[in-house]
Amino acid sequence: MRSHYCGHLNESHLDQEVEICGWVHRRRDHGGVIFIDLRDREGLVQVVYDPDTPEIFMTAESVRNEYVLRVKGRVRSRPEGTVNADLPTGQIEILGLELEILNAAETPPFQLDDDDVSEEHRLRYRYIDLRRPEMLERLKFRSEITRTLREYLDEHGFLDIETPMLTKATPEGARDYLVPSRTHSGEFFALPQSPQLFKQLLMMSGMDRYYQIVRCFRDEDLRADRQPEFTQLDIETSFMNEDQIMELMEEMMRHVFAKVMEIPLHNPFPRITYAEAMRRFGSDKPDLRIPLELVDVMDVMKDVEFKVFSGPANDPKGRVAALRLPKGCELTRKEIDDYTKYVGIYGARGLAYIKVNEKDKGREGLQSPILKFLPDETVTAILERTGAEDGDLIFFGADKATVVNEALGALRVKLGHDRGLVERGWKPLWVVDFPMFEWDEKNNRWTALHHPFTSPKEEDIDKLESDPGNCLSRAYDMVLNGTEVGGGSMRIYRANVQELVLRQLGISDEEAQEKFGFLLTALKYGCPPHGGVAFGMDRLVMLMTGAASIREVMAFPKTQTASCLLTQAPSAVSNAQMKELGIRLRKPPEKDQEKQPKVS
Ligand code: AMO
Ligand code: AMP
Repeated sequence: MRSHYCGHLNESHLDQEVEICGWVHRRRDHGGVIFIDLRDREGLVQVVYDPDTPEIFMTAESVRNEYVLRVKGRVRSRPEGTVNADLPTGQIEILGLELEILNAAETPPFQLDDDDVSEEHRLRYRYIDLRRPEMLERLKFRSEITRTLREYLDEHGFLDIETPMLTKATPEGARDYLVPSRTHSGEFFALPQSPQLFKQLLMMSGMDRYYQIVRCFRDEDLRADRQPEFTQLDIETSFMNEDQIMELMEEMMRHVFAKVMEIPLHNPFPRITYAEAMRRFGSDKPDLRIPLELVDVMDVMKDVEFKVFSGPANDPKGRVAALRLPKGCELTRKEIDDYTKYVGIYGARGLAYIKVNEKDKGREGLQSPILKFLPDETVTAILERTGAEDGDLIFFGADKATVVNEALGALRVKLGHDRGLVERGWKPLWVVDFPMFEWDEKNNRWTALHHPFTSPKEEDIDKLESDPGNCLSRAYDMVLNGTEVGGGSMRIYRANVQELVLRQLGISDEEAQEKFGFLLTALKYGCPPHGGVAFGMDRLVMLMTGAASIREVMAFPKTQTASCLLTQAPSAVSNAQMKELGIRLRKPPEKDQEKQPKVS
């Protein structure tokens, strides 16, 4: 139907007759001449119709925004003074010789260049939203990234292998999406939270190196960087250790950034342990672009009379830490109050601070609601350790270590953004040496920090039962500018260790057999040492495009309440369908309830 894309035409096509197809971006009538900006995937080009051929001119007059046209015309230079330097096709225009309306269009629900359209509206009419050059560019860019990743992995001997979508639950810590089985009444498939177990089975099958760009499903609380279905670049290898895997994976990232963005990433990526990350940044996904760090002051707070500090300082599970904000004396009372409220979200019961006006003046030069509780040597130690200068402000967190880390970790990031301290550029790193287990206060049991198939450090295997809290795992996360873009681990490949870990997680042998008996059996038939990683493609693309949420880099994302505004999914199904599946609802669907008129 066409000889060229609209957006590809330029001076090299002068005097050629071309055929193009696309959408009417804008039509303007100018003193007897009609201009149509025709748009396709590759860009815009201006088409001009003059009244010499009245029939065609009349058709041109009748077109409206978003009509779909086929145009035949001749490429010519734009008259002097009408060149548009902002447009790649801006040197030329097409003199329209023929015009076919392939399809008319109703007035679109919003203008493509309107920046103020609600996200709800955009999602409902996503096919129109996606016509906006910004969205188009992001999806094209995403496609380029996946192509580059595939090329890299293909070149490095990885096989692209698909794994089932209708499967059994894989525990990754979220709720499952379930699919009822018609042929096995009363039974359900689970959609995969990840292909974790299948990729391990592929290693046991001898595939050696596997990858897949694969959809994963997790029914969990949604945020800007979480969707109920999202895409992983999922990878598994045999006979490689964690150092080799991390090396290969960061080389892949360097390759992608260099190829699609011409950005050189660090070589090698820095590695820090989980313990160090928590100590210095209060987070296991630290944003290294922010030059603020937490400093421990536990030891100098043990004997102070201020119980808020001495309590946690003497509690093995407590933490007292300081965070210095350069030039923080500028903060107003109101700003400090707002930050106090902010850390409250993370459970902090307050946010003590010291303003360092003039260090040399001793106490006189400091301003703080807690100064009166602190002896001289404590104050001196705080100033020394934090490296405070005149004009700085020091915040304090004192509580259970988990609360202090979360609160000050989040405050660190917020201050970084609010105070313009975020450095430009890309700061990838690996976080390693994660604990094997995490204590779940609510349910009074140990849970796996990564997932239950992650190998403990060899030297910690003996401690699995006696001291689970101090066992480290062979897991690693790739973090980029404060976002966890990927996570992986060396896997357990010996059946007895796997059984031990499952038992430690409070999973009885019976339950283990029922849930992952197939894996436990497979481990006994020749399982190679293996390990891998999975990257969140949506998150990676979000970061690389500078988008504000992963919804902006997905063609058809869901809302915060996990529904699709375009298709209205999820939706009720017919009784006949339910019957076939052997299912009866305990109460009518919420949507229908809403629709019913209120009975007064
Ligand atoms: P994990 O659960 O860490 O590991 O997931 C890997 C990566 O997937 C991304 N991610 C998400 N992205 C968008 N929405 C979500 N709801 C979401 N959840 C996770 C993150 C994360 O780093 N099977 C293991 C990997 C392995 O051990 O090889 C796994 O799934 O970027
Ligand atoms: P109060 O004695 O409760 O008025 O607290 C004195 C100062 O300590 C105030 O600035 C509080 O914000 C702060 N504060 C109270 N509890 C904590 C805590 N757990 N961690 C850090 N600062 C706190």
